[in-house]
Amino acid sequence: MELAQRLQRIPPYPFLELARLKEQALRDGVDLIDFGIGDPDQPTPPHIVEALCEAARDPATHCYDESGFGTPEFRHAVGLFMRRRFGVELDTTSEIQTTLGSKEALAHIVWAYCDPGDIVLVPDPAYTVYRNNAIFCSGVPYPMPLTAQNAWLPDLDAIPRSVARDAKMIFVNYPNNPTGAVAELDFYRELVEFARQHELIICQDCAYSEVFYEGYQPHSILEVEGARDVAIEFHSLSKTFNMTGWRVGWAVGGAAHVAALSKLKSNVDSNTFMAVQRAATAGLTHFEDFAEERRRTYQARRDAMVEGLNDLGWRLEKPKATFYLWAPVPSVHSSESFCKALLTRCGILATPGGAYGDHGEGYFRLSLTVRADDPVARIQEALRRMREELSVSFD
Ligand SMILES: Cc1ncc(COP(=O)(O)O)c(C=O)c1O
Repeated sequence: MELAQRLQRIPPYPFLELARLKEQALRDGVDLIDFGIGDPDQPTPPHIVEALCEAARDPATHCYDESGFGTPEFRHAVGLFMRRRFGVELDTTSEIQTTLGSKEALAHIVWAYCDPGDIVLVPDPAYTVYRNNAIFCSGVPYPMPLTAQNAWLPDLDAIPRSVARDAKMIFVNYPNNPTGAVAELDFYRELVEFARQHELIICQDCAYSEVFYEGYQPHSILEVEGARDVAIEFHSLSKTFNMTGWRVGWAVGGAAHVAALSKLKSNVDSNTFMAVQRAATAGLTHFEDFAEERRRTYQARRDAMVEGLNDLGWRLEKPKATFYLWAPVPSVHSSESFCKALLTRCGILATPGGAYGDHGEGYFRLSLTVRADDPVARIQEALRRMREELSVSFD
């Protein structure tokens, strides 16, 4: 049976050969060091697991969550978190929606707003969910190049006026996957003004807001006055609390946008399991100690990797947030050929930048969520292999 056109229109994964080589290496029993997927390697904190077990024993959590927006307790915890962390005051009855992780909501917000032919402005490189859901909706994704010269922020002035006029949505993601870049309030102010001028809805993906270093604190776009009129922001417990499998997060923004997402969702899911919402509430209520310990762990890995790569010839700055490193590939290489060399010569898995869009070409991404008894030692081992097996030049 032929697939629906919408699925056929999704571009295939561009690096099938790399995927094949990975399978082969695994079959051959190669001691792979995996910097591929951005999935925290540590378990969910015990107090969250305990809260889930207790909640799951309570029959009151076993039925549908008929609240629509998510349980009042969870929304209350989100409201306190947003106030404490960003100084943002939300109406917990209308400006917060529980989600099944942020991916689901980032997808569904497109379905809530995008009609066939509508332009959806998407960053390039980027998490592919924004672009692919625009394609699912027969919308037209319009790539906004992110470049080192512009600190990996989209250049809003470079978007042709006719495109901005016909666009309906604009996606941004800070702290950013894959580049590790962050956005300051000046950028968000400019973005809010741009959205007002062109009647766009801003979708800001804030999944990495709590993975930051050395006292830097990423912002919420809702800190900008009036932002909620034009913006909805997506948060997640996945990366902050090592909860990727639990599927829980939230969306916040103006009541109209939250209601739009809610209406869409009410036709496709019935909210996160209420026991998971209770466990997530426990996580949000006592989040700072755990989050701080996590940051120190990733920081040690970040420092080992950046300093090691710089010893090998790179000139990388340490990212202020996320657990990703985004680095140029040495000259003579494409993203794909460099990742192939890493895999076949060093047994190292990295993601070619081109997987995130055309403007990711020339870069590769390393996720610091490496699974090992001693991840820093594993990073040192990866660097040792690279030193011995690769000659690195950027001329
Ligand atoms: C930029 C970005 N947004 C959203 C997500 C989805 O996270 P989740 O659905 O687990 O909240 C990811 C996952 O890797 C991501 O990288």
